[in-house]
Amino acid sequence: MRKILWAPTLLSGHLSTLPQDLKTFEEKAVDYLHVDVMDGHFVPNYALGTGFIRDLRDMCSLPLDIHLMIEKPDLNLDRFDIRPGDIVSVHIESTPHIVRALEHIRALGAKAFAALCPGTPAEALLPLAPFLDGALCMSVNPGFPGQKILPGAEEHIADIRAVLDRMGLPDAVLEVDGNVSFDNVARLIRAGANMFVGGSGSLFHAGGSVADNIDCARAAAGAAD
Ligand code: DX5
Ligand code: ZN
Repeated sequence: MRKILWAPTLLSGHLSTLPQDLKTFEEKAVDYLHVDVMDGHFVPNYALGTGFIRDLRDMCSLPLDIHLMIEKPDLNLDRFDIRPGDIVSVHIESTPHIVRALEHIRALGAKAFAALCPGTPAEALLPLAPFLDGALCMSVNPGFPGQKILPGAEEHIADIRAVLDRMGLPDAVLEVDGNVSFDNVARLIRAGANMFVGGSGSLFHAGGSVADNIDCARAAAGAAD
C-alpha cells in the first residue's frame, strides 16, 4: 500500500481564515500546501503568484505543492520561491520544453511532476521517465475550484499508473486534482492515485471545520484498504 498524501488547495479557502487554517494544517501535519498559479492564458482564470508564495514562507513551514497553470513555465521558474522538498507540477501541454522545465525543478532541489489535462493521454509521460518524480492528473478542466469530477477520471488515473509502471517508476507519486471528495477518494486510490488535492469536496468542505475535515478525509482514504 502506498503512503497517502494530502495537499489542501489554498484557492478553496478564504483569505480571512488563512492564518488559522495554516496553523491547523501544521498541527495536523498535512503533507503539502497546494498553491494554484494561473496566468489567464494557459487557463481562463488568474490566481496566486510569486508574492503569495513568498509571504506563505513566513506564515507556515509546510512544504509547497506548486501547480503551475501557466504558459511556458520553463521561462519563468526562477521567479518563484521554489525550495528543496517542494513539489512543482508543470503541464505537459504548456510548453514544448517540458524536459527542460523538469530538469530545472530538480536542480532547485524540488520534486518534478508532470501534470496532465483530462484530454492528454497517459502515454505522453513515456519520454519523461528519467526526469519525473510524479504525475498530476487533472480530474476537472483546470482553471476553477468547485467543479464536478469528469467522467473518465478514474480510467485516466488507472492509465497513468499503468504507464508509470511501464516506465519503471512504481514509486512515483500520482496526484489527483479536482473535486476529490470524501465520497470518491477511496475509488481514486483503488484506481492507482496516492496524493490528493483537498478542496471544496474534502479539506475545505463547508459542512465541517478544517480540522474535522482532515480527519474525515484520512478516514475516507483509509476505507480503500
Ligand atoms: C483547479 C485547481 C484545483 C482546484 C481544486 O484548476 O487546480 O487545485 O483548486 O479545487 P476543488 O477540489 O474544489 O475542485
Ligand atoms: Zn491545482
